[in-house]
Amino acid sequence: MKKLVIGGSGFVGSVLVDKLIKLGHEVIVFDNLRFGYEKNIENLNVEFLKGDIQNPKILENYIEQVDVIYFLATVNIIAAENDYSDCIQTNVVGLNKILELTKNKSNIKRFVYTSTSSIYGNGVEIQENTNKEFLNIYATTKYQGECLCKLYQNTENLPLTIIRYTNIYGRNQRPESPFCGVVSRFIEKSIKGEDIEITGDGNQIRDFLSVEDATELTIRLSLLDSTLGDDINLNTGNGHNIRDLAELIKKLTNSNSKIISISERKIDNIKCRRLKNDKLKSFIDYKFLDIEEGIIQTINWYKNNYKI
Ligand SMILES: NC(=O)c1ccc[n+]([C@@H]2O[C@H](COP(=O)([O-])OP(=O)(O)OC[C@H]3O[C@@H](n4cnc5c(N)ncnc54)[C@H](O)[C@@H]3O)[C@@H](O)[C@H]2O)c1
Repeated sequence: MKKLVIGGSGFVGSVLVDKLIKLGHEVIVFDNLRFGYEKNIENLNVEFLKGDIQNPKILENYIEQVDVIYFLATVNIIAAENDYSDCIQTNVVGLNKILELTKNKSNIKRFVYTSTSSIYGNGVEIQENTNKEFLNIYATTKYQGECLCKLYQNTENLPLTIIRYTNIYGRNQRPESPFCGVVSRFIEKSIKGEDIEITGDGNQIRDFLSVEDATELTIRLSLLDSTLGDDINLNTGNGHNIRDLAELIKKLTNSNSKIISISERKIDNIKCRRLKNDKLKSFIDYKFLDIEEGIIQTINWYKNNYKI
């Protein structure tokens, strides 16, 4: 049976696809290329279907060939702020169209919904049952997506696993995207010797997770019987502030860039988010990549893929 990766030409999805193929799986990618890049998967042996989850008719011909669906399509946190309705259309209405396709399909053994730690807002020692806090439309719709998946689990026997990622960085996070994350942006600015812009004071704390670890663990969790029906935080358990991260990237790129503060955006209302990962560790004993090592790997990927 094949694996279907919805949103598979995006940052995380394309690395997931790469790893699935290396493990010997056959993979179908479904993506509308709105935020993803064809170049992320052009050298991979995948069946690529260009299409939108809001109109997934083409998938009807493929859905019976797959046993695991990884759902990674999303409108990202930055794009989402510009148009709440657009975000709801993809992250809730589009997701529902895909869930409808899974009804009565006994070949589907797992549906993996990738969610986000943004649904917790601020906090420390966050666990899966910690209260949710909705501080932006992206987080709100990602949680709505979780609820919708759980409805299909309860009423249609959807074999669901929810994975909540923290901030992911690494290869295929493309700095030319206006929506890319801080690590990729800081690396580009740092290598070019341009100002590294931090929104606010730089004291915001996040748990940075390498895309290699995120995707490796996603696959392993999706294939375990014991994770069926569960929701799992996928994070390292560490916290780093944004200014220290900028300093680390400057050091590792041997850069003269200045680190400057610019005004906060509306989405910068999450100051500190630290999570525990006890549930994850109860499923898999895993050694995470050290952040310095992960950033060196990302710098090398950048140097090999962009003209400097
Ligand atoms: N990157 C992170 O730091 C991070 C953190 C927490 C959670 N996540 C979650 O991980 C998943 C992947 O995120 P990412 O960073 O790779 O995002 P991304 O934007 O790089 O990838 C999302 C993909 O979905 C596709 N897509 C968007 N709307 C679509 C639609 N209507 N129909 C078909 N395809 C569509 C895009 O073209 C893109 O290729 C998402 O569920 C996201 O919420 C990511």
